[in-house]
Amino acid sequence: MKIAILGGTGDQGFGLALRFAKNHDVIIGSRKKEKAEEASNKAKEILSSKGLTYKNIIGLDNKEASKEGDIVILSLPYQHILSTLKDLKEELKGKIVVSIGVPLATAIGDKATRVVLPPQGSVAEMVQDYLKDSKVVSAFQNVCCKELEDVGNPVDCDILVCGDDVESKNIIKSLAEEIDGVRAIDCGKLELSKYIEQITPLLIGLNIKYKLKGSGIRITGLKE
Ligand SMILES: NC(=O)c1ccc[n+]([C@@H]2O[C@H](COP(=O)([O-])OP(=O)(O)OC[C@H]3O[C@@H](n4cnc5c(N)ncnc54)[C@H](OP(=O)(O)O)[C@@H]3O)[C@@H](O)[C@H]2O)c1
Repeated sequence: MKIAILGGTGDQGFGLALRFAKNHDVIIGSRKKEKAEEASNKAKEILSSKGLTYKNIIGLDNKEASKEGDIVILSLPYQHILSTLKDLKEELKGKIVVSIGVPLATAIGDKATRVVLPPQGSVAEMVQDYLKDSKVVSAFQNVCCKELEDVGNPVDCDILVCGDDVESKNIIKSLAEEIDGVRAIDCGKLELSKYIEQITPLLIGLNIKYKLKGSGIRITGLKE
């Protein structure tokens, strides 16, 4: 599978690129192709320096990345998601689009421990509302970029996944479980994303209060 990560030059997208490159071709997307290429070279250097194998990693601008990817992950600041998607509707038609965004109030200059919800209720539903012809899956909101970028070590976090297209949701669930240490949990329909997204400001608050590198979540009581 070819996995495109729009905004993959940033912390979260770059961490996901490092993790997914083990089994998949990864395309790092950026507003600027050169910046994406720099990030893809850096990813290859990091993985090589740790003796980890990877498939192909390349850098493209967001539009080309959207065309190339079978799965397209939106790793963009909340307030810039829709403006980025404006020119990409055609490229993303029929594809699985993964919403990882959290509606942090930093988008309006407020605290990262608060949210400003979009009218649709969650970032994922906002994206699905905008991309009517794509299959939006919500995931990866509760895992910290610092855990992801620490390749070589397992990620200590459950990944909560939700979405309305069952097949797409199962694909992303399996993809998440390829990350060492991760258990992915099907949480149901996309409308559940609002609760998943709003766990993250709580985790950010805990990171501040207890001086943690990057807290995560585990759900107990589930039988394998
Ligand atoms: N960081 C975390 O630990 C974490 C955890 C859970 C979820 N998330 C979610 O993951 C997403 C990405 O987070 P992040 O921390 O990686 O964000 P980030 O580093 O602030 O931004 C990601 C990328 O977005 C692009 N970007 C910045 N301003 C833009 C604009 N005006 N228009 C279009 N693109 C723009 C930049 O790429 P180019 O300059 O290359 O275009 C940047 O590298 C967010 O939705 C966040 O809520 C993050």
